[in-house]
Amino acid sequence: MTKITVVGAGFVGATTVQRIAEKELGDVVMTDIIEGMPQGKALDLMESAPIVGFDVNVVGTNDYKDMQDSDIVVITAGIARKPGMSRDDLVKTNSNIVSEVSENIKKYAPDSIVIVVTNPLDIMTHVALMKTGFHPGRVIGMSGVLDSARFATFVAMELGCSVRNVDAMVLGGHGDLMVPLPRHTTVSGIPITELMDEAAIDRLVQRTISGGAEIVELLKTGSAFYAPSVAITLMVESIVRDQKRILPVAAYMYGQYGYEEIYLGVPVKLGRMGVEAVIELDLTEPEQEMLARSAEAVKEAISTLDL
Ligand code: NAI
Ligand code: 2OP
Repeated sequence: MTKITVVGAGFVGATTVQRIAEKELGDVVMTDIIEGMPQGKALDLMESAPIVGFDVNVVGTNDYKDMQDSDIVVITAGIARKPGMSRDDLVKTNSNIVSEVSENIKKYAPDSIVIVVTNPLDIMTHVALMKTGFHPGRVIGMSGVLDSARFATFVAMELGCSVRNVDAMVLGGHGDLMVPLPRHTTVSGIPITELMDEAAIDRLVQRTISGGAEIVELLKTGSAFYAPSVAITLMVESIVRDQKRILPVAAYMYGQYGYEEIYLGVPVKLGRMGVEAVIELDLTEPEQEMLARSAEAVKEAISTLDL
């Protein structure tokens, strides 16, 4: 049976565990530093199993060693953004947390594939890569699936059409410099550039870029978790079931798109081995410039860290 550990049993972590269990993607271990909390949430979830009808085991723990031999580890541990706080304000605190978690992954789950969720996402994924020392194809960040889902939602709302027909694509970092790609965002194969005017597209692009902040402003005490948890679960499923879905994720660049040794949101083929291929799109000059600004911001933040 596949073993999946989710580190951090907060809003994103616990909802992800629920979704993974309900899809029976594997046995799940949920860890957190708060005593009793992951155990309580795990027991509550197990008590939902007879009704939902899932047949996997969910265990809560405060001990890293329970992640022993996990196939996949999802890192959601950290503090979430509060109103008015930028993702980058989180760098120092979450970097220490992700470093500690990554060292334990290296020790207890040396063959795992790691999906990083903690913000600031591109930087924390870099931290996890450095601290695990894993092959970069096995250390992946979740952001593009969520950002693209937001873009798709807003496109469907604007056109008053089913969201099932919308395929959106967002590249770059998970931050104010992300790069939504209208040319590659389609409704039943038709690029949205043929379905709405430039002003409408710009409005949807801007709403996508500030999609995380929009939820934070509404919730006031935390950030999004329903859409993030299903985005993580999609990535876990693609790996566990070796589906080789083409998904935008934060992947380590070795020359692709002209970048070296940096995490950037790009479409990849995601399968049992992790990132099995990076898909390189032909970008227009303005798109390349936006990607360059996004990459520069990630590089700058990484340079402030002692890795
Ligand atoms: P939350 O505050 O509900 O949960 C975080 C949990 O991490 C807490 O329960 C805390 O006790 C735990 N934790 C802290 N240090 C730990 C450690 N060393 N080991 C295990 N657990 C530890 O926050 P939420 O809403 O679940 O968000 C989690 C993180 O995910 C945040 O950094 C947030 O910004 C990020 N996020 C990223 C998204 C993305 O697209 N990449 C989307 C949504 C959230
Ligand atoms: C989001 O985009 C907070 O990064 C998180 O919702």
